Amino acid sequence: MRTDGWRSYPLSVAAILLFFIVYSTIRIFMAKWYFVPEHGYLTPLYSPCLSDSCVEGSSHFGTPFGAFPAWIPLGLAAFPFVAGFRVTCYYYRKAGYRSLWLSPQACAVQEPHKKYSGETRFPLVFMNSHRYFFYAASIILLINVWDAFHAFKGNDGGFGIGLGSLIIVANVLALAGYTASCHACRHVMGGRLKHFSKHPVRYRLWTLISKLNTRHGTFAMTSLVTVILTDAYIMAVSAHWITDLRIWN
Ligand code: FES
Repeated sequence: MRTDGWRSYPLSVAAILLFFIVYSTIRIFMAKWYFVPEHGYLTPLYSPCLSDSCVEGSSHFGTPFGAFPAWIPLGLAAFPFVAGFRVTCYYYRKAGYRSLWLSPQACAVQEPHKKYSGETRFPLVFMNSHRYFFYAASIILLINVWDAFHAFKGNDGGFGIGLGSLIIVANVLALAGYTASCHACRHVMGGRLKHFSKHPVRYRLWTLISKLNTRHGTFAMTSLVTVILTDAYIMAVSAHWITDLRIWN
């Protein structure tokens, strides 16, 4: 019955989500152009690279898994957790339910499903695992921070800064904002407390996270874009389509 342009939101979000799904699927199975050895740039889609099949120098945490056959993604150790974190995220749930699952597509729009079972049945019951993905994503964020330290390698092998270094750091900041503003993070900081006055540190953290939490959707979309841009830049430099812009050494 609605006559306004309610379709534009679900359609545009569906286009963005589908682009990211297709792009990242192609990239994780590409198994090349994910590392720039001269400057230590490693794409977040392949981090941590824990296989003997990884390009030399890209395994910042060793290679405990041995060689992978070509059909196993080199970023397998982290990618399922990062993907699970996004899929079960409260913001992406709203976006996904409206744009992909059509449940519902917008306020006051009838949905095509005959019955509404919420998140009580397979496969949507899986959404309740979000807090566990938050723990895994927090560890992976620390790995990304470690990768960023490795991205300041100059032309002579010493310290150097390139455009890639800045892009990688910007991506880590966006990912940190996304992870810290997570609803599960807010609950870990201040959930289940009866008296904030007895837990002043947790209260302060909860207050801070609550402020970030109001911008969670912005962090979610920004970090999605920065992950794609970081990967695309590293791919372009690694494939020698472009040269890294050097700022210092
Ligand atoms: Fe979005 Fe946790 S609610 S990452």
